[in-house]
Amino acid sequence: MNTLEKSSVVIAGGGSTYTPGIILMLLDHLDRFPLRKIKFYDNDEERQKVIADACELIIHKNHPEIEFLATCNPEEAFTDVDFVMAHIRVGKYKMRELDEKIPMKYGVVGQETCGPGGIAYGMRSIQGVLDLVDYMEKYSPNAWLLNYSNPAAIVAEAMRRLRPHSKILNICDMPISIENNMLEILGFEKRSDIVTKYYGLNHFGWWYDVRDKEGNDLMPKLKEYVKENGYLVQSDIDSAKQHGDNSWNETYKMAKDIYAIDPDTLPNTYLKYYLLPDTVVEHTDPNYTRANQVMDTREKEVFTACRQIVEKNEFRGDELSLDEHASYIVDLATALKFNTYARMLLIVENNGIIENFDKTAMVEVPCLVSSAGPEPLFVGTIPTFQKGMMEEQVAVEKLVVDAWMEGSYQKLWQAIALSKTVPSVTVAKQILDDLYEVNKAYWPELK
Ligand code: NAD
Ligand code: G6P
Ligand code: MN
Repeated sequence: MNTLEKSSVVIAGGGSTYTPGIILMLLDHLDRFPLRKIKFYDNDEERQKVIADACELIIHKNHPEIEFLATCNPEEAFTDVDFVMAHIRVGKYKMRELDEKIPMKYGVVGQETCGPGGIAYGMRSIQGVLDLVDYMEKYSPNAWLLNYSNPAAIVAEAMRRLRPHSKILNICDMPISIENNMLEILGFEKRSDIVTKYYGLNHFGWWYDVRDKEGNDLMPKLKEYVKENGYLVQSDIDSAKQHGDNSWNETYKMAKDIYAIDPDTLPNTYLKYYLLPDTVVEHTDPNYTRANQVMDTREKEVFTACRQIVEKNEFRGDELSLDEHASYIVDLATALKFNTYARMLLIVENNGIIENFDKTAMVEVPCLVSSAGPEPLFVGTIPTFQKGMMEEQVAVEKLVVDAWMEGSYQKLWQAIALSKTVPSVTVAKQILDDLYEVNKAYWPELK
């Protein structure tokens, strides 16, 4: 067998809570995706250093042949790389907290990527991701940017318009996690044991066909389960996996109630924010939202573990958990590097894939991925219910990008007012004014 060519990757958002899990995952998959260099890039040196020092120790002790560098200098970070793996959070958790709490003041869903909070985050993220694309094109023009920085739908639409020829692919882990639960429901082992069909926007989609490798229809068994339990499975309970805490367990359970409105399809869990906003608001403490939970758990745990590893100059292996579900990133990089034609859900321009839907919308659909990039698979005509919801939501996303490009207050007001999570133009304006006030350092000036 030929030896596989080694890659050089830069992780943008090196200080992310997800970075150590991804590093352990990358080291676990070196047989199929060998690495010669790993670099971290962040714009917060202090935050990145905590994660980087621990990861450097882990990499050097186990794979001394892999070069490591953590830097805040774009030239150093983006020179000689094959892949940019991007998970930045512009404004960090402090701003996520405000994205969630401000809408809640008005009884509106406060969420990282959905509704007004997602819109505010989108207005912050566009410039951050755009900078990454430009650094990559300047210093490593042949590289690919694999982006999972949120809100991926808005970021993807912005890059489609602002950098139409750039090698950037947007991907989300939510369908992957749900498909892992489907495997458990069905009694299968690997994601490759099932073939799924799905369409929608990011954090806004539906499965309409799931089969085993022999072609047997697995939807009836899945529906029967989801109707009673949502996607919650035994391994979620008290689990250390990424979507395993109480809040995620609740979300997985709620899929049962969003499934009820359309028993022909199986929903993405994120649809709860659009279809059950009243229940979501009722169950949210306006003074202690998801950002607070994450800061008090995942962020503390990851940073504490990294500090301890460095202090003791030792990695036993159980201080940090390997994020196996993030192996989709390796699947994607491997497909691009080694031309595997892996079938993956990606966020791509519709272009007729969903026949009765805006050609220029960024949709989430299965694609075959080769070294030439993604080849989306035909979906066809979608039903009125989904089409109606998607048309409204895609208009929201497009209006946000309009607002960002034109510096338009009016367009951003329209975007918020059009979101299914917002009851009126009056409430939309109040939320917008509050969000604008706290986002002045991040958003373009609005006129
Ligand atoms: P985090 O705040 O722990 O990490 C983000 C890092 O990005 C921070 O270290 C921050 O300093 C850095 N950063 C912010 N702005 C930057 C910029 N302009 N340039 C370079 N670095 C910058 O956040 P987290 O919870 O670990 O999440 C990271 C990102 O990954 C978020 O956008 C989150 O929404 C996203 N995410 C996406 C998926 C998906 O399905 N697509 C899954 C999980 C997380
Ligand atoms: C899922 C979504 C991501 C999102 C994350 C938030 O993984 O696909 O896009 O960022 O959930 O999870 P958290 O635990 O930070 O609330
Ligand atoms: Mn996602």
